[in-house]
Amino acid sequence: MPPSVSGIDPQAKGESGNSRSVVSRQTAPHEDLIAQVGKHARHRWAKPIADYNREAFAQADQWIAGRAQPLILDSGCGTGDSSRLLAARYPAHLVIGVDRSADRLSRQRADTPENCLLVRADLVDFWRLAREAGWRPEQHYLLYPNPEPKPKHLKRRFHAHPVFPDLVALGGQFESRSNWRIYLEELAQAFAYHGRTAEIFPVPDDEPPLTLFERKYRSSGQPLWCLRTTEGSAEEST
Ligand SMILES: C[S@@+](CC[C@H](N)C(=O)[O-])C[C@H]1O[C@@H](n2cnc3c(N)ncnc32)[C@H](O)[C@@H]1O
Repeated sequence: MPPSVSGIDPQAKGESGNSRSVVSRQTAPHEDLIAQVGKHARHRWAKPIADYNREAFAQADQWIAGRAQPLILDSGCGTGDSSRLLAARYPAHLVIGVDRSADRLSRQRADTPENCLLVRADLVDFWRLAREAGWRPEQHYLLYPNPEPKPKHLKRRFHAHPVFPDLVALGGQFESRSNWRIYLEELAQAFAYHGRTAEIFPVPDDEPPLTLFERKYRSSGQPLWCLRTTEGSAEEST
Protein backbone atom coordinates (compact mmCIF):
# COMPACT_ATOMS: atom_id res chain seq x y z
CA MET A 1 0.00 0.00 0.00
CA PRO A 2 1.42 3.45 -0.85
CA PRO A 3 2.19 5.70 2.08
CA SER A 4 -0.33 8.40 2.93
CA VAL A 5 0.58 12.06 2.65
CA SER A 6 2.01 12.07 6.16
CA GLY A 7 3.84 8.82 5.55
CA ILE A 8 1.53 6.88 7.87
CA ASP A 9 -0.69 4.17 6.45
CA PRO A 10 -4.23 5.19 7.52
CA GLN A 11 -5.39 1.57 7.49
CA ALA A 12 -2.66 0.53 9.86
CA LYS A 13 -3.51 -1.76 12.72
CA GLY A 14 -4.51 -0.01 15.93
CA GLU A 15 -5.31 3.32 14.37
CA SER A 16 -9.04 3.61 14.97
CA GLY A 17 -10.43 6.83 16.39
CA ASN A 18 -11.87 5.26 19.55
CA SER A 19 -8.80 5.27 21.73
CA ARG A 20 -9.48 5.92 25.41
CA SER A 21 -7.75 8.65 27.39
CA VAL A 22 -5.32 7.67 30.12
CA VAL A 23 -7.09 6.95 33.41
CA SER A 24 -5.03 7.19 36.57
CA ARG A 25 -5.52 7.76 40.28
CA GLN A 26 -2.67 10.24 39.96
CA THR A 27 -3.77 13.85 39.60
CA ALA A 28 -0.23 15.25 39.83
CA PRO A 29 3.36 14.02 39.56
CA HIS A 30 3.97 11.00 41.77
CA GLU A 31 4.99 11.84 45.33
CA ASP A 32 7.91 9.38 45.15
CA LEU A 33 9.24 10.67 41.84
CA ILE A 34 12.10 12.84 43.06
CA ALA A 35 13.25 10.22 45.57
CA GLN A 36 13.46 7.70 42.72
CA VAL A 37 15.23 10.08 40.35
CA GLY A 38 17.68 11.06 43.07
CA LYS A 39 18.42 7.46 43.98
CA HIS A 40 19.17 6.60 40.36
CA ALA A 41 21.30 9.70 39.89
CA ARG A 42 23.68 8.50 42.61
CA HIS A 43 24.43 5.07 41.13
CA ARG A 44 25.41 3.96 37.64
CA TRP A 45 23.03 1.12 36.72
CA ALA A 46 25.04 -2.07 36.38
CA LYS A 47 22.53 -4.67 35.17
CA PRO A 48 24.23 -6.88 32.54
CA ILE A 49 23.49 -5.97 28.95
CA ALA A 50 21.80 -8.63 26.84
CA ASP A 51 23.77 -10.03 23.90
CA TYR A 52 21.02 -9.26 21.39
CA ASN A 53 21.12 -5.61 22.42
CA ARG A 54 24.91 -5.51 22.07
CA GLU A 55 24.55 -6.94 18.55
CA ALA A 56 21.82 -4.46 17.65
CA PHE A 57 23.88 -1.58 18.99
CA ALA A 58 26.99 -2.74 17.13
CA GLN A 59 24.98 -2.78 13.89
CA ALA A 60 23.78 0.78 14.52
CA ASP A 61 27.23 1.97 15.60
CA GLN A 62 28.75 0.52 12.42
CA TRP A 63 26.06 2.18 10.32
CA ILE A 64 26.92 5.64 11.63
CA ALA A 65 30.68 5.06 11.66
CA GLY A 66 32.46 7.14 9.07
CA ARG A 67 29.41 9.22 8.23
CA ALA A 68 29.97 12.77 9.32
CA GLN A 69 26.26 13.52 9.68
CA PRO A 70 24.38 14.63 12.80
CA LEU A 71 22.30 11.97 14.50
CA ILE A 72 18.64 11.89 15.46
CA LEU A 73 17.56 9.13 17.84
CA ASP A 74 13.91 8.04 17.78
CA SER A 75 13.53 5.92 20.91
CA GLY A 76 10.48 3.65 21.08
CA CYS A 77 9.76 4.30 17.41
CA GLY A 78 7.07 1.60 17.13
CA THR A 79 6.36 1.07 13.45
CA GLY A 80 9.07 3.60 12.59
CA ASP A 81 6.75 6.14 10.98
CA SER A 82 8.26 8.99 12.96
CA SER A 83 11.79 7.84 12.07
CA ARG A 84 10.92 7.88 8.36
CA LEU A 85 9.21 11.26 8.61
CA LEU A 86 12.18 12.75 10.49
CA ALA A 87 14.59 11.26 7.94
CA ALA A 88 12.62 12.92 5.15
CA ARG A 89 12.44 16.19 7.08
CA TYR A 90 16.19 16.17 7.84
CA PRO A 91 17.84 14.59 4.77
CA ALA A 92 21.33 15.64 5.93
CA HIS A 93 20.89 13.80 9.26
CA LEU A 94 21.03 10.14 10.17
CA VAL A 95 17.93 8.87 11.94
CA ILE A 96 18.00 5.74 14.07
CA GLY A 97 14.68 4.36 15.30
CA VAL A 98 14.83 1.85 18.14
CA ASP A 99 12.04 -0.36 19.42
CA ARG A 100 11.92 -3.70 21.19
CA SER A 101 8.87 -4.90 19.27
CA ALA A 102 9.83 -6.94 16.22
CA ASP A 103 6.17 -7.01 15.23
CA ARG A 104 5.83 -3.21 15.16
CA LEU A 105 9.15 -2.77 13.36
CA SER A 106 8.21 -5.31 10.70
CA ARG A 107 5.30 -3.19 9.44
CA GLN A 108 5.51 -0.67 6.57
CA ARG A 109 9.25 -0.76 5.92
CA ALA A 110 9.19 -0.46 2.16
CA ASP A 111 9.67 3.30 2.07
CA THR A 112 12.42 3.62 4.68
CA PRO A 113 14.80 6.34 3.41
CA GLU A 114 18.50 5.73 2.98
CA ASN A 115 19.35 7.97 5.96
CA CYS A 116 17.11 5.98 8.32
CA LEU A 117 17.88 2.77 10.20
CA LEU A 118 15.36 0.85 12.31
CA VAL A 119 16.81 -1.33 15.02
CA ARG A 120 15.25 -3.87 17.32
CA ALA A 121 16.63 -3.44 20.84
CA ASP A 122 15.65 -2.73 24.40
CA LEU A 123 16.25 0.93 25.16
CA VAL A 124 17.44 0.28 28.69
CA ASP A 125 20.49 -1.45 27.19
CA PHE A 126 20.73 0.58 23.98
CA TRP A 127 20.93 3.94 25.80
CA ARG A 128 23.70 2.66 28.09
CA LEU A 129 25.69 1.34 25.13
CA ALA A 130 25.18 4.60 23.26
CA ARG A 131 26.43 6.57 26.26
CA GLU A 132 29.45 4.30 26.63
CA ALA A 133 30.24 4.72 22.93
CA GLY A 134 30.07 8.51 23.25
CA TRP A 135 27.01 9.03 21.06
CA ARG A 136 25.73 12.59 21.14
CA PRO A 137 22.50 12.75 19.14
CA GLU A 138 21.61 16.24 18.09
CA GLN A 139 17.94 15.44 18.66
CA HIS A 140 16.35 12.68 20.71
CA TYR A 141 12.65 11.76 20.44
CA LEU A 142 10.62 9.62 22.82
CA LEU A 143 7.16 9.75 21.31
CA TYR A 144 4.16 8.42 23.19
CA PRO A 145 6.04 6.16 25.60
CA ASN A 146 3.85 3.67 27.43
CA PRO A 147 2.42 5.86 30.23
CA GLU A 148 2.23 3.15 32.91
CA PRO A 149 -0.42 5.26 34.69
CA LYS A 150 -0.95 3.08 37.77
CA PRO A 151 0.84 4.80 40.67
CA LYS A 152 2.40 1.48 41.70
CA HIS A 153 4.04 1.31 38.25
CA LEU A 154 6.01 4.54 38.66
CA LYS A 155 9.30 2.66 38.33
CA ARG A 156 8.31 1.43 34.87
CA ARG A 157 8.24 5.01 33.53
CA PHE A 158 11.56 5.86 31.90
CA HIS A 159 12.19 8.93 34.08
CA ALA A 160 11.82 6.85 37.28
CA HIS A 161 13.89 3.97 35.93
CA PRO A 162 17.59 3.45 36.78
CA VAL A 163 18.49 4.05 33.13
CA PHE A 164 17.29 7.67 33.18
CA PRO A 165 20.74 9.20 33.90
CA ASP A 166 22.02 7.46 30.75
CA LEU A 167 19.24 9.01 28.69
CA VAL A 168 20.11 12.44 30.14
CA ALA A 169 23.82 11.91 29.45
CA LEU A 170 23.15 11.38 25.74
CA GLY A 171 22.28 15.08 25.59
CA GLY A 172 20.90 16.84 22.54
CA GLN A 173 17.50 18.43 22.22
CA PHE A 174 15.08 15.98 23.73
CA GLU A 175 11.40 15.81 22.80
CA SER A 176 8.69 13.59 24.20
CA ARG A 177 4.97 13.55 23.44
CA SER A 178 2.12 12.04 25.41
CA ASN A 179 -1.65 12.02 25.81
CA TRP A 180 -1.04 12.04 29.60
CA ARG A 181 0.27 15.43 30.64
CA ILE A 182 1.31 14.19 34.09
CA TYR A 183 3.84 11.86 32.43
CA LEU A 184 5.52 14.85 30.83
CA GLU A 185 5.33 16.91 34.03
CA GLU A 186 7.19 14.10 35.79
CA LEU A 187 9.69 13.92 32.95
CA ALA A 188 10.29 17.69 33.23
CA GLN A 189 10.88 17.35 36.98
CA ALA A 190 13.30 14.48 36.41
CA PHE A 191 15.22 16.55 33.84
CA ALA A 192 15.24 19.51 36.25
CA TYR A 193 16.85 17.26 38.85
CA HIS A 194 19.68 16.76 36.35
CA GLY A 195 19.91 20.48 35.64
CA ARG A 196 18.04 20.56 32.36
CA THR A 197 14.99 22.69 31.77
CA ALA A 198 12.08 21.74 29.58
CA GLU A 199 8.83 23.29 28.44
CA ILE A 200 5.50 21.58 27.91
CA PHE A 201 3.05 22.78 25.29
CA PRO A 202 0.18 21.37 23.22
CA VAL A 203 1.16 19.34 20.16
CA PRO A 204 0.30 21.63 17.22
CA ASP A 205 -2.78 20.11 15.61
CA ASP A 206 -2.22 21.81 12.26
CA GLU A 207 0.79 19.58 11.51
CA PRO A 208 0.49 16.06 10.10
CA PRO A 209 0.74 13.45 12.84
CA LEU A 210 4.29 12.34 13.53
CA THR A 211 3.39 8.84 14.67
CA LEU A 212 0.71 6.20 14.46
CA PHE A 213 -0.27 6.75 18.08
CA GLU A 214 -0.45 10.50 17.54
CA ARG A 215 -2.86 9.94 14.66
CA LYS A 216 -4.93 7.53 16.72
CA TYR A 217 -5.15 9.78 19.77
CA ARG A 218 -5.87 12.85 17.67
CA SER A 219 -8.67 11.19 15.77
CA SER A 220 -10.13 10.22 19.17
CA GLY A 221 -10.16 13.91 20.12
CA GLN A 222 -7.61 13.61 22.91
CA PRO A 223 -5.47 16.58 23.96
CA LEU A 224 -1.82 15.85 23.19
CA TRP A 225 1.23 17.33 24.88
CA CYS A 226 4.82 17.87 23.92
CA LEU A 227 7.85 18.27 26.21
CA ARG A 228 10.99 19.79 24.76
CA THR A 229 14.22 20.54 26.59
CA THR A 230 15.18 24.16 26.33
CA GLU A 231 18.73 24.40 27.62
CA GLY A 232 21.47 22.53 29.43
CA SER A 233 23.59 19.71 28.18
CA ALA A 234 24.60 16.25 29.26
CA GLU A 235 28.11 17.47 30.04
CA GLU A 236 26.75 19.97 32.58
CA SER A 237 24.84 17.32 34.49
CA THR A 238 27.48 14.60 34.70
C1 LIG B 1 2.77 3.50 22.82
S1 LIG B 1 3.96 2.86 21.72
C2 LIG B 1 4.41 4.30 20.78
C3 LIG B 1 5.12 3.95 19.51
C4 LIG B 1 5.46 5.12 18.60
N1 LIG B 1 6.43 6.00 19.21
C5 LIG B 1 4.21 5.88 18.23
O1 LIG B 1 4.01 6.96 18.79
O2 LIG B 1 3.46 5.38 17.39
C6 LIG B 1 5.36 2.63 22.77
C7 LIG B 1 6.50 1.91 22.09
O3 LIG B 1 7.60 1.85 22.97
C8 LIG B 1 8.21 0.57 22.81
N2 LIG B 1 8.94 0.30 24.04
C9 LIG B 1 8.50 0.33 25.31
N3 LIG B 1 9.48 0.04 26.17
C10 LIG B 1 10.59 -0.18 25.43
C11 LIG B 1 11.92 -0.54 25.73
N4 LIG B 1 12.33 -0.73 26.99
N5 LIG B 1 12.79 -0.68 24.71
C12 LIG B 1 12.40 -0.51 23.42
N6 LIG B 1 11.15 -0.18 23.07
C13 LIG B 1 10.25 -0.02 24.06
C14 LIG B 1 7.05 -0.38 22.56
O4 LIG B 1 7.48 -1.57 21.91
C15 LIG B 1 6.15 0.47 21.69
O5 LIG B 1 6.41 0.31 20.33
